[in-house]
Parts: sequence; structure tokens; C-alpha cells
Amino acid sequence: MSKRKSKGRNVILVGAQWGDEGKGKIIDLLARKSDYIVRYQGGNNAGHTVCLGNDKVILHLVPSGILHPKKICVIGNGVVIDLQALFDEIEMLSKRRVSVRGRLFVSDRAHIIFPYHRVLDQLREDHKGTKKIGTTKKGIGPCYADKANRLGIRVVDLMNPRIFRDRLNMVLAEKNTVLKKIFNYPPFSFHKMHRMYSRYRKQIAPFVQDTNLLLDQATRRGRRILFEGAQGTLLDVDYGTYPYVTSSNASAGGAIVGTGMSPSRIDEVIGVVKAYTTRVGEGPFPTEFPPELMSRIRERGEEYGATTGRPRRCGWFDALLTRHSVRVNGLNKIVVMKLDVLDELPKLKICIAYRYRGKRYHHFPSDIEVLEGAQPIYEEQPGWLVSTELIRRWQDLPRNAQKYLRHLESLLQVPISIVSVGSERSQTIFIDGSYR
Ligand code: GDP
Ligand code: IMO
Ligand code: MG
Repeated sequence: MSKRKSKGRNVILVGAQWGDEGKGKIIDLLARKSDYIVRYQGGNNAGHTVCLGNDKVILHLVPSGILHPKKICVIGNGVVIDLQALFDEIEMLSKRRVSVRGRLFVSDRAHIIFPYHRVLDQLREDHKGTKKIGTTKKGIGPCYADKANRLGIRVVDLMNPRIFRDRLNMVLAEKNTVLKKIFNYPPFSFHKMHRMYSRYRKQIAPFVQDTNLLLDQATRRGRRILFEGAQGTLLDVDYGTYPYVTSSNASAGGAIVGTGMSPSRIDEVIGVVKAYTTRVGEGPFPTEFPPELMSRIRERGEEYGATTGRPRRCGWFDALLTRHSVRVNGLNKIVVMKLDVLDELPKLKICIAYRYRGKRYHHFPSDIEVLEGAQPIYEEQPGWLVSTELIRRWQDLPRNAQKYLRHLESLLQVPISIVSVGSERSQTIFIDGSYR
């Protein structure tokens, strides 16, 4: 490895399960050693939590490095932006005396989420009934669909009043027809929407940049860039449990197209996992806990969605699923979160394979029927039955906790660089000294 590479200058951090792994906490920690923190996909469906003592900040669109005063935060072209949600978040930050002026930049190529996207998200979910995806109803899917369908409106389009008027006129006519004919939903007024977004134009203007150019110049000046994944690899539209996924590439590849950064400039890809597994919304979950254990871990781990408040489904660690993430993202390192949540369990299980119709699966299958019917095959380990919340060094962890983590490493064939034992910054065990 070259000297430049070993410094890990440009780092992509991704969720390696179904989202909510604890990316916000780790981004906030790694931001200390970065100059730029960049969101590359998703939108305000994300909810990334950073805890500062008793204070809890949840970020949906603004990168989780924003709490460090000197860092530059970028919302890349791959993100879909609900402008009102962004302004609300900027306001929330300013109430906490966190100023974003001059250090938050929004890509001019990013697509905008409009009210009709949110309405369509809701209507389509209702229409699907028991087959619903369980989306966050933030309009994410419909906005990405419009982008691919060439019916999207980008930030740069909003900035040009003539282009914006034309595009909104054309797109809204199509949306209103769909809303009326398929869903019997009342039309949106062009004039109202045009007026509202003309106000937004002035409000967003100071933040708008060609962020690809900005990041290119930053890397040329030797600045360190941290790419903040949203959602998780199993929610990736290509590699997740389709159709129970989000509509963007949450895996490492998303950082490339979602910012325009060349893959040749990426030094490291880090995957964040929980010491167990959770998911919000519908879709297969082979290692899901039985009800009693589910509620116990949900309460202890405070497993309620940071964006929607929905209870998260919880289950055992799934090595098949995580190995899939290791492969898809080319993970160099793993960060294990929420080890403390397992402190009181006498026995721990790790899924190492699935069985379905007499066949054993050692690789995460793509067939939704197999996933829905998969019987997990577990290995068992004894728990440690002491609190890990105050532990700060690897050597102080109980032997059985060390064994559990070593076993994860050997199943995944990727080194663990950080272990988290609580939501606060200090509740962190750095195994790899380069992040301390
Ligand atoms: P993200 O979407 O990946 O950033 O994760 P979320 O913020 O949605 O969910 C993670 C939750 O776990 C947050 O409430 C964090 O404060 C909390 N958390 C993070 N790390 C730990 C940990 O090591 N232990 C415990 N108990 N909670 C943690
Ligand atoms: P962070 O970044 C967990 C899930 C939704 C739903 C599916 C599709 O906080 O980890 P969408 O609204 O994106 O169309 O919903 O994806 N989902 C998440 N689950 N964490 C997230 O983000 C999520 N963002 C979307 O629950 O199942
Ligand atoms: Mg979250």
C-alpha cells in the first residue's frame, strides 16, 4: 500500500445492513480527521443521530459533520432535496448556534422533491395495501423515478426562472393528470407552487454550487473527504432486498455517481454494522427475533426510527447478509455498533447460512421468495452478562465479547476498527489507532 493510501484520505462510509446502523455517530467521530463531509444519495428519509452528552441532534439532509465548526459539508448531486425540510434543518441548527453559512454547499445537479412526490409516495403506498413497502413517505421514490424518467427538476433548473417556469408547467400538467385519473386526487395549483418555489430560489441561492468542481479542487489541494452513506446496502435499489428497498444506490458505488468523484481517488471503504440486525418497514428479514426478545432488544436499544418514529424490527446478526455487503462495497474495515445492547443476553446467535426447500444457501440470495422463506442456520455463543458501556479499551472487554467480535471478523474476513458501546462520542473503543 502506498503512503497516501495508508492515510485513508478519501473515505466512503456505508451502512452494511438495513440502515440505522449508527452511521451518524461514526461520521461525527471521523469528521475530526476529515475536511469535507459529503452526502451522496437518499434524502430526508435518512435520520442520522449524533449525541452530545444529553443533547441529541438528528440530521436528515445536512451531513453529520456539521457539528464540527470548521468542516465543509456538501450535499451531492445524487441526493434528492426537499427544500423546506432542508431549511427547517438549517433553522434547527442555527437555534443550536451551529452556523452553516459558507460551509454548507448544495449541488446544482441535485434533484428537488416537490409536494406531488410526497403525495404520490403516500397514495402509491396506500394503493398497494398489504404489499406496501413501508416507505418514509418523504417522496423519495417518486422523485428518483422522475429523475430517471427525465421529468425531474434540478436545483440548477430552479435557479433559472425561465427554465423553471417551463419545466414546472410541463411536469405539473403530467402529475395532475396522473393524480386525477389514477388516484382521484385534487390538482396542485401551478401558480401557488411557482410562487412558493420562487421564494425557495432566493433562500437556497447562497448554498448552490457545482459541487463536483468544489470536491475536485479540494482533492487537488490534498483535502480529506468523508462520504456519508445514507440507508444501508440491503436497501440499495440494486443490491438490496428488492422491491423492499429505497430508490438510490446506498452502497459505495453511489458515492461515485452521487458526487462525481472518481473511484481512483477513493482510499478506503468502511462498513457500519450493528452487533445485531434491525430494519424498518416491510420486507424479508430471516433472522428476525421472536416477539419477546424483539421487545426486549427494541427497548434496550431504543430501536425507534429517527425519521418516522416507527418501531424497528430487530434480529440476530446475519453473517450472510453482511458478507454480501462486504463484497458489494469492497469493505476494508468494519465498525461494530451497539455492542452494549447485547450485554444482558446469556446466549447469542449468529446466522451463518439459510435453508430453503432443502437447499443450503451460503451467499445472500436475490430471489425474494427464497428470502421470505429462508430458515436461518445459527451458530451459538455464550454472552458476557456484564455492562460494556464504560469500557474504552479492547483489552478491558469481557472475554466472551472479544470472542463474539473476533468471530464476526473471521466470518466477514474484514478487520473491525471501532466498537461502539453507547450513543455518546466517548463510548467508543478504537481498535485501529488511525481514527482515535
Ligand atoms: P444512522 O441512521 O445509521 O445514523 O443511525 P440512527 O441514528 O438512525 O440510529 C442509531 C441509534 O443508535 C441512534 O439513536 C444512536 O444514538 C444510537 N447509538 C449509536 N451507537 C450506539 C451504541 O453503541 N450503543 C447504543 N446503545 N446506542 C447507540
Ligand atoms: P438511515 O440513513 C432505515 C427504508 C424505509 C422503507 C424503505 C423505502 O437513517 O439509515 P423510502 O422512503 O426510502 O422510499 O423507503 O427504506 N428506509 C430506511 N430504513 N434507515 C434509513 O435511513 C432509511 N431510509 C429509508 O423504512 O423500508
Ligand atoms: Mg437512521
